[in-house]
Amino acid sequence: MTVAALPGALRAEYPLLQTCTYLNSNSTGALPRAVEGVLAQYWNTMRAWRDDTWDTWLSQMQAYADGVADLIGAPAGSVALDTNLSAHLSRLASCLDFSGERRRVVITDLEFPTVPFIWKGFARYGAELVVVPSKDGRVDEAALEAAIDKRTLLVCVAHGAFATGAVLDLARIAKAAHAAGALIATDAYQTVGTVPIDVRALDVDFLMGGAHKWLGGSEAAFLYMRPGLLPTLRPAVTGWLAGASPLGFQQTTDYAPDARRMMGGTPAPLMVLLSRPGLDLIKGVGIHAVREHSLKLTDRLMARADAAGLRVVTPREPHQRGGVVAMSFPGDVQVTQRLVARGFICSHRGFLRAAPHFYNTPEEVDAFMDALIEEQHNPSA
Ligand SMILES: Cc1ncc(COP(=O)(O)O)c(C=O)c1O
Repeated sequence: MTVAALPGALRAEYPLLQTCTYLNSNSTGALPRAVEGVLAQYWNTMRAWRDDTWDTWLSQMQAYADGVADLIGAPAGSVALDTNLSAHLSRLASCLDFSGERRRVVITDLEFPTVPFIWKGFARYGAELVVVPSKDGRVDEAALEAAIDKRTLLVCVAHGAFATGAVLDLARIAKAAHAAGALIATDAYQTVGTVPIDVRALDVDFLMGGAHKWLGGSEAAFLYMRPGLLPTLRPAVTGWLAGASPLGFQQTTDYAPDARRMMGGTPAPLMVLLSRPGLDLIKGVGIHAVREHSLKLTDRLMARADAAGLRVVTPREPHQRGGVVAMSFPGDVQVTQRLVARGFICSHRGFLRAAPHFYNTPEEVDAFMDALIEEQHNPSA
């Protein structure tokens, strides 16, 4: 699909769009209507249950993992699935050895709360957390580079900041991490599905994300691992499906050779099945067309905010931002609540966040900003 044609007929695929002005895809993406058929199929499976369904489900899960791998420029077999990013990060952390000199984990103060919480938990196993302060809602990349040294085991930073939408120069930080002999993991939950990502170009070792935001799916999350590192990953947080031949139901003696070694116990296949239509729609449109459309809409949001004298917290340069525009002004919490009550769906995380996707129109952006300005001038706001 060409950018000029977006969103066009695509809007009919997302029933949620008929109920409101939905600019909230960084929080929870709209689900496509094909999901209804997946639910019906699931019930058909359950009401005639046979154990061999697991063969089908596991191969469908593998196909989804490989579909995500393809979207981020990774080879098949390099992406594992679990229910959330926290599970992936905990499992990854459990592969690391914090007993030596090199035991530091470098993060920033812009991470989603799950990230510092997990690393604080791993302090009991010797992990030493270094938190690099941000500047004006953005990662201070020079300060981050300066914090990485021979004591750094892992740099664990968000690609897109959840509160401000600021995007990090990951390739630069990956270079600094590798130069110091450290590994780099990134939380790309806020960018996968709206910003094109190529793990080879970024040269990251691990990339995590999930389906229920920009990828228009349900609660399923993924972890990419650089294929060359796979044999070194021996998680303590694990489960029988990480074994080399789980369906043999023998005692597990070794990990699977591919990304499946980072699975746990019985997964939730329904969430993956529900996530498939959203992934297919994004890939059908093409991530570069998605991005071009997104930039058009976020440019428009920022221009309208500027004209209204509202502070835009998100950086201006396209390469420094994802799909979110964060705004800050007195009463922004109340304005968010009023907008939602009026059917203009956005969210508040320190700032008012508006997040248009490939299914939104410029007219929706204008209607949203008209309503926002009205509410901002509402004396009871
Ligand atoms: C940047 C970021 N990371 C992680 C998460 C979620 O983590 P989890 O899947 O563990 O709930 C979110 C949002 O929910 C997020 O915005």
